[in-house]
Amino acid sequence: MKIENSIETFNSLVKRRGFIWGPSPEIYGGFAGFYSYGPAGMALKNNILDLFRRECRYFGFGEVECPTIMPSIVWEASGHLERFIDPVMRCNKCNTLYRADKFLQENLPDLMIDGLSFEEMEKLIKKHELTCPKCGNNFQKIEEYNLMLKTSVGNNTTAYLRPETATTTYLLFNRLDQDARRQYPIKIFQFGKAYRNEISPRQGVLRMRSFDQFELQIFISREQEMEFVDYEEVKNNKLPLLDWKLQEKGINAPNIISLDSAIKDKILKKPAYAYCLYVAHYLTTILGIPEELIRFRQHSLNERAHYADDAWDLEIKSRQFGWVEICGVHDRTDYDLRRHAEYSKQNFEISMGSDPNIKEVPQVLEIAFGIDRIIYTLLETTFNVEEGRIILKLNPNLAPNTVAVFPLVRNKENIRKFALKIHRELLENRIGSFYDVAGSIGKRYRRQDELGTKWCITIDYESLDDNCITLRDRDSMEQIRINISNLSEIIKKKQRE
Ligand code: GLY
Repeated sequence: MKIENSIETFNSLVKRRGFIWGPSPEIYGGFAGFYSYGPAGMALKNNILDLFRRECRYFGFGEVECPTIMPSIVWEASGHLERFIDPVMRCNKCNTLYRADKFLQENLPDLMIDGLSFEEMEKLIKKHELTCPKCGNNFQKIEEYNLMLKTSVGNNTTAYLRPETATTTYLLFNRLDQDARRQYPIKIFQFGKAYRNEISPRQGVLRMRSFDQFELQIFISREQEMEFVDYEEVKNNKLPLLDWKLQEKGINAPNIISLDSAIKDKILKKPAYAYCLYVAHYLTTILGIPEELIRFRQHSLNERAHYADDAWDLEIKSRQFGWVEICGVHDRTDYDLRRHAEYSKQNFEISMGSDPNIKEVPQVLEIAFGIDRIIYTLLETTFNVEEGRIILKLNPNLAPNTVAVFPLVRNKENIRKFALKIHRELLENRIGSFYDVAGSIGKRYRRQDELGTKWCITIDYESLDDNCITLRDRDSMEQIRINISNLSEIIKKKQRE
């Protein structure tokens, strides 16, 4: 059967090879917006997290972990209870609820919907005579819908599942201030689950109701935002920036300009914020996402979250869903810390500059990654079908298996033992090796190509005599014979290339 290079082939691969399953629980018919990761998906996720954690350390970020449930007062203070909302509209007849902006974007793909007010969206619905896809009737007025998931703790105390990790990091502010001995900027990240009660989560794994965030926060003074040491080292990097003014003109292609020029041209206001864009871009490109599929898109005033003074989304062009936001970079000013100081009756004003008499509440800059979206876009952008062969061209260091080891035949005990010995040696050298004896050698190669395994090692009859194995490359399918004496070192060297 001919294998098509199609999105259907891709979607089936994601399930078939154990990356992502769902909606979960599948055996009960699935609950929209909830997904599970299989062994391959978890291995990929953990490899991404290892890489991110290592790089964050390099950039000077420490890690924290907070509870995922917080009492109501936290979300009153953060503004989420009042303002963390989506526009929704209900069908007049069948009562089906739609998320208005997503519905418009799907029906009018050539228009820029992000940033439109409720009134502007209603006008578009009228103008294009859009009606309920289920029953063909008109919609009621667009209304606000809060995305917070409510729960009850202990003896009926109302609490909410966090809709972002960020707020829970801010609640640690006075601890972090002490811990860092007031050496600013303080750089902190948190990885963990967040929950959003999405109205109709229709874009599969892109719009989960329970999802993983990896959010970096920089607590910084106003002065440091404008004179940021780390910025000097990165300011000549060119990034693809699509600012709001370009979007208003109907332009979708970003300008590729240096951060320095973007500051000089007032496209970006603060050097420290420009640095955050650089970090977001760097972390995305080291995953292996091609540069030409990346852009930063600035939010309009209407689109920005309630806490943001400036916001740019790092988006990746996907085949199935168009441009997908995988990271939001937000200038949250002193909004969050001021609100939490007020509601908790704490004083968060500290002296941050050279004059100890001048006190201020720190500013916060945020780089917020959605890990599940990274995984989806990484799988989609590395998916290839070449001459009937499915290959995931994942970065070898991120692929679920680094190498796979096969005995050529399964019914020869000495070949099997030899292969197992090599597999164990690789594991002892902490190389992610996978041993497979099931099926024809061709099928075993295909399975690993589909998992993104860069190298396969085959042990044959000759190996018993000459101590050599065959090393096959995933992309070129080239096979070379090498001696097993320093196999682990060879693989490690290849991993570093
Ligand atoms: N913390 C920002 C976000 O959740 O998008």
